[in-house]
Amino acid sequence: MSTLSKETLILSILIQHLGEIVSGEEMAQRVGVSRVALHKRIDALKRQGVPIKSIPRKGYTLMEIPDLLIPPLFLTLLKSREMGRNYHFLEQTDSTNRVARELARQGAPEGTLTVAESQTRGRGRQGRSWFSPKGENLYFSLIIRPSISILEVPQITFLASVALTHVIRERLGLEALIKWPNDIYIRGKKVAGILVEMESQDAIPRFLVVGVGLNVNTPPGGFPPEISTRATSLMIEGGKGLLRAQILAWFMESLESWYQDLKKGHKEELLTYWRRYNYTLGRLVQLEDGREGWAVGITPQGSLLVRTLGGTLLSIGAGDVEVVE
Ligand code: BTN
Repeated sequence: MSTLSKETLILSILIQHLGEIVSGEEMAQRVGVSRVALHKRIDALKRQGVPIKSIPRKGYTLMEIPDLLIPPLFLTLLKSREMGRNYHFLEQTDSTNRVARELARQGAPEGTLTVAESQTRGRGRQGRSWFSPKGENLYFSLIIRPSISILEVPQITFLASVALTHVIRERLGLEALIKWPNDIYIRGKKVAGILVEMESQDAIPRFLVVGVGLNVNTPPGGFPPEISTRATSLMIEGGKGLLRAQILAWFMESLESWYQDLKKGHKEELLTYWRRYNYTLGRLVQLEDGREGWAVGITPQGSLLVRTLGGTLLSIGAGDVEVVE
């Protein structure tokens, strides 16, 4: 057993007994190390910021789970089999999508996760940047190696947005919806963005990088002026701070389960959920060229069907639309 998995085990025991004192002897026995080795591992966890209290002659206690993005905590909470099992936790990077792409080129397996506490050049869609301050939110990228054709790539975009929306709705009880193509909105404001990038050869994707930026704990008034009227966070919507490691672990689990279904050929179900969770359909939207129309449908390839005010039916394959009303 590696040092890391011993720390994970210690943390999971403390979390199981949250607020209680666990004796050093019991813990050492359960982890399978000496008392001295246990003490060292507890110190290592404390150095990573986990507020474990040592109570002389009694044992150790953890009063609350800290909001830290560290492997032992993430692994304690992770229930997926493949997604996120291979991981890179970074303090700061330019863009986790850039790092993940590099890793994928070097052969990193499917499910490899790159997470950063902050990004200096977080990338958004269409050349935009992504607000990525330290310690507040989630910025991560996942490598996917599906056996599909390029034409089927939008399915992976659906997959990511449905999986994330599902987590926000089912685990947190917030009314998240998907704005085409893959923004997540709550009460009309953007809470998350997804950037799927691909490298392909002969019309076959070699790999995809699914990059997710999710505003978790940005407080009211915490967004820069240029996005403050359009952006929101889970904390603003739900009224309390959340554990980023927990949300990340839930997303890995959710994505894995939707991905398994997709691999079994259940494409319709994904589209059904996309439609159920959609924010765009039935609304008046403005296209990039300024024309306006009603969003009337979505094709299995992921294009948005818009009936312009002049009556023409358009199929929008890429880009963005503004919701007018
Ligand atoms: C968008 O809505 O424009 C997509 C935003 C995607 C942002 C995430 S943050 C983690 C990952 N790394 C990046 O550089 N971008 C994505």
